Amino acid sequence: MCGIVAVFGKENASQIVLDGLKNLEYRGYDSWGVGTPGEGKVEIEKQIGKISEAILPDSFPQKTLAIGHTRWATHGGVTPENAHPHFNEEKQIAVVHNGIIENFVELRSELRGRGHVFFSDTDTEVLCHLMEEYIDDGKTLLEAAQCTANRCEGRFAFVVLHYGENCLVAVRRGSPLILGIGENGDAYLASDTPAFINHTQKIHYIDDGEIVYLEDSKITVHSLETLEPIEKREVTLDITPEDATKGSHAHFMIKEIYEQKDTIARATNQDSQEIEKIAEEISKARGTFLIGCGTAHKVAAAGEYFFSMIAKKHVNTAVASEFPIFHDFLRPESLIIAISQSGETADVIEAIEAARSVGSTVLSIVNSAGSTVARMSDFSLHIKAGPEKAVASTKAATSQLTVLLLLAYACAGKLDDGRKLMVDAASLVNDLVNPRFVEFVAGIAKEIADQNNIFIIGKGANFPMALESAIKIQEVSYIHAEGFAGGELKHGPIAMIEPGTPCLVLVSSNELQKKEILSNAMEIKARGGRIIGVSSENSEIFDDWIRVPEAGAANPILNLIPVQVLSYYLALERGFNPDMPRNLAKSVTVK
Ligand code: M6R
Repeated sequence: MCGIVAVFGKENASQIVLDGLKNLEYRGYDSWGVGTPGEGKVEIEKQIGKISEAILPDSFPQKTLAIGHTRWATHGGVTPENAHPHFNEEKQIAVVHNGIIENFVELRSELRGRGHVFFSDTDTEVLCHLMEEYIDDGKTLLEAAQCTANRCEGRFAFVVLHYGENCLVAVRRGSPLILGIGENGDAYLASDTPAFINHTQKIHYIDDGEIVYLEDSKITVHSLETLEPIEKREVTLDITPEDATKGSHAHFMIKEIYEQKDTIARATNQDSQEIEKIAEEISKARGTFLIGCGTAHKVAAAGEYFFSMIAKKHVNTAVASEFPIFHDFLRPESLIIAISQSGETADVIEAIEAARSVGSTVLSIVNSAGSTVARMSDFSLHIKAGPEKAVASTKAATSQLTVLLLLAYACAGKLDDGRKLMVDAASLVNDLVNPRFVEFVAGIAKEIADQNNIFIIGKGANFPMALESAIKIQEVSYIHAEGFAGGELKHGPIAMIEPGTPCLVLVSSNELQKKEILSNAMEIKARGGRIIGVSSENSEIFDDWIRVPEAGAANPILNLIPVQVLSYYLALERGFNPDMPRNLAKSVTVK
């Protein structure tokens, strides 16, 4: 949700910033902007529209430091004025910012009262005017950034550039910020590592309450509270520049769908001792809550079924944004299992903070090993899916499901069985995701792309998968899609079925569930619905049969994959870019 990038100590810094922003496009694509020192002021180029199409004018200065931003609008419409970087009246100071400054209305009216003129509707702009005041008071850039941050409420990260000073300052309080360390005194700041992966793989994760200062070959990190220097640990990234590209695929979404051939196997390959240790924590916890947002929440809901069916263990599931309702039930002996691809989702972070405040244990299942969520957790399992850049979560979801399934087996004292199940399932994905299969599903997409409604039903763990399928279809194709427990349709939603309404039926491998979901499908068919069976066996009820291999308890994971492919082709059929759904951003770092 908004991407910030800054480059220090490198020729052509503006161009490197722009290229870095293109790799962060998944964080927001409403507008973009770059700023660099110019003659007597900061030179700024900013436009509405997608960063992927952005070009800097030939005349734009190429100095050795620059900042940039790709925006997902929160405060203020999508206009050139609201695009970052923002600046003070004289354009001496420019700021890029991610997150929200909750008290910006009060700060703005206070600043206006002292004669400041605002050029945008954003919360960010107060940072520029506050910086100006502190610098005018004789503070250094570092001190001014500290004072500015201290005036602001909310979660944010920002980078400040002053036209006359060969330095950059960045603050983190609640929104992600990573420092990349180059070979020759060059340094990079960004919301996520793909922004600078082409320049360095050596990084420092900046923590909340830290401020970074880049000047000449001096790269220092300080406490935001005291400005005392902080020693940081260098981490080497395990992603390569190729991981952050589309390769030969037209979109990241389809690339990432194909990658599930490997990612499910990688997620399965967890350290047994660690899994056993965490399973012990789950078994001894008094009150376990699985939480996540969006797709991660649907994964959590499937986890509830896995623990119930495999480990005979009851766990609770909650949407992270609704978790405050349950705070009163948290105890030191409770466990929360936070699921998050990015590890930066604001509602998930808030849930973890609540759990930590009462001493509950926190386990996280993340794709970004150094993320905020991972670092706030007592235990963190890395799903190892590699960068997921399409907004629609695909490979991360199936990897998260894999890890939860392993944990459920470990809790049942059968980790080896779980591992074998998932090793077999991973090899079945190889057979599933091939061009012939994808073409077949694309054919179904072509036939149903003009429909207004699509329904998805499932039973057992396939019920949350039906909910997740609906998210996939909605977010990339904008068709109204809804997922239901098969038995629920006749309690109301079946009234929506008209002749030809497509209904995807996610068939379980459990015999009883299979029988029941097919009978629910029959009820829809009797009202004229078009039944698209996602199943290992054909049935006369199906109008279309999408064959998935028989995978036992891993069946809900495999059932998801054809729906991901279908969603992708529905988006293409309807002329939309599946990597950039309207109104969305990949990482939701605001509440
Ligand atoms: O990074 P997270 O897993 O915490 O993100 C949570 C949701 O925003 C995310 O799963 C979202 O629903 C998906 N992008 C939808 O495909």
